[in-house]
Amino acid sequence: MLAVADLHKSFVSPEGGRVGIVHVAAFALAAGEQRALRGESGSGKTTFLHLIAGILAADSGHVTIDGVEMTALGESQRDRLRAAKLGYIFQAFNLLQGHTVLENVLLGMGFGPRGADAVHAREILTRVGLAHRLHHFPRQLSTGQQQRVAVARALANRPRLVLADEPTGNLDHRHARESLVLIREVCRENDAALLLVSHDEQALAQFEGVQDFALINRPGPEDRS
Ligand SMILES: Nc1ncnc2c1ncn2[C@@H]1O[C@H](COP(=O)(O)OP(=O)(O)OP(=O)(O)O)[C@@H](O)[C@H]1O
Ligand SMILES: [Mg+2]
Repeated sequence: MLAVADLHKSFVSPEGGRVGIVHVAAFALAAGEQRALRGESGSGKTTFLHLIAGILAADSGHVTIDGVEMTALGESQRDRLRAAKLGYIFQAFNLLQGHTVLENVLLGMGFGPRGADAVHAREILTRVGLAHRLHHFPRQLSTGQQQRVAVARALANRPRLVLADEPTGNLDHRHARESLVLIREVCRENDAALLLVSHDEQALAQFEGVQDFALINRPGPEDRS
């Protein structure tokens, strides 16, 4: 359901040179497959997920999701494909600060194929343990609670592919374990594929066959400066 081929991304550094960050020759996920990648800070994990989601445009290469080549689409079509197929748990949450917990989930659903469904939004927020915080604003929540809103928002649309960027980074052990169990359970219910990136060994321990991101991502020396 996800295929990545020869994907390159570099950034212009403040000194002016180009720095290669991502070069993934090949990566694939089958429908319903759950995979975790381990990578140290700064290794390009978030950049890789942003490229898959079409939030960032690649320099070259291909990302294909459910048979549609994301990298061949314009920005608005990428936005549409993302809304239809993807659930993205952002490392920095990206919650809308002027909207309540429930509104954040409903607004996220509004872009998706099923539209805003208050019953389902409440159900998923209850499953992440936030039934008692529906009308709070993000700034009135703890950091871990904000992270759980981000999880609920990403799962609410029953996406085909869930991209989880360090989704337990701000949670204590119990909540981290519960949150991961929930993410994996919802993915299984929806036959969604899951790609998680993390440097949290406790989170990674829940996955079989964890791959080192550095073995998949090899920006060439010619890319670095
Ligand atoms: N817009 C940008 N311009 C220049 N450099 C960037 C930009 N975005 C990311 N980088 C660089 O790309 C590298 C990888 O960043 P990225 O956020 O993908 O790492 P990461 O593996 O997700 O790290 P962490 O585990 O800390 O979240 C970093 O060295 C960063 O400085
Ligand atoms: Mg990151």
